[in-house]
Amino acid sequence: MTNLFDSGVINDMPQRYRANFINSLSGYKSANLIGTCDANRHTNLAIVTSVFHVGANPPLMGMIMRPHTVTRDTLGNIKEQGYYTINAVPVSMYMQAHQTSARYNPEQSEFDQCGFTPCWQEGFAAPFVKESPMRVGLRVEDTQRIDANQTELVIGRIEQVWLDSNVIEDDGTVDISQLSLACVSGLDTYHKANPLAKMAYAKPDKAPSQIKLFNTDQ
Ligand SMILES: Cc1cc2nc3c(=O)[nH]c(=O)nc-3n(C[C@H](O)[C@H](O)[C@H](O)COP(=O)(O)O)c2cc1C
Repeated sequence: MTNLFDSGVINDMPQRYRANFINSLSGYKSANLIGTCDANRHTNLAIVTSVFHVGANPPLMGMIMRPHTVTRDTLGNIKEQGYYTINAVPVSMYMQAHQTSARYNPEQSEFDQCGFTPCWQEGFAAPFVKESPMRVGLRVEDTQRIDANQTELVIGRIEQVWLDSNVIEDDGTVDISQLSLACVSGLDTYHKANPLAKMAYAKPDKAPSQIKLFNTDQ
């Protein structure tokens, strides 16, 4: 059975209940740790799931940061330094990754508090997460305030990618199923992904065709 939840019902939901309900509607999202630092190289790490593809040429990724009503070390560092990293969370570290969302004091680094190792790369001004099997370094290209809810859209240009080249397929696809990455639903539920199939490019006059079937009994 499907029930209707219209705008009236949604508006009447208690704040926390509505947050959980609405956050669930965007489905499974990637779990990412955003690595930043201040001018003194004091590091910060925060879990963020609103990461998305913006374009491949130039190579751009976006994310939505919550309003600046309380101190946001991540957004502050990003705006101040102009560099940040997006590090995919391995399944084995979902608990530590979740813990980075706690409100630590600015002088406490979530790297130390939650058990991650900062990894500095030549010529890049933000820390990567050593434990992550897919690490992306970005330079801020644009930030925009979203008038609808005072969140901030951050667009970054990809400058460095660190991952095992063995998981890159002949056509350039990164087979992330080999990296055992965690994904998230709502704001607090972590999942392992289970791949189904890689599909051929869709054309109106061709039936859907599978290029590769994964073993789904994982
Ligand atoms: C599963 C999960 C997903 C989150 N996704 C986002 C997000 O997409 N954007 C955001 O601004 N905060 C998100 N947060 C909240 C941040 O992790 C949290 O505010 C963190 O403390 C920010 O760190 P900072 O104060 O050091 O910047 C998420 C938290 C959790 C638990």
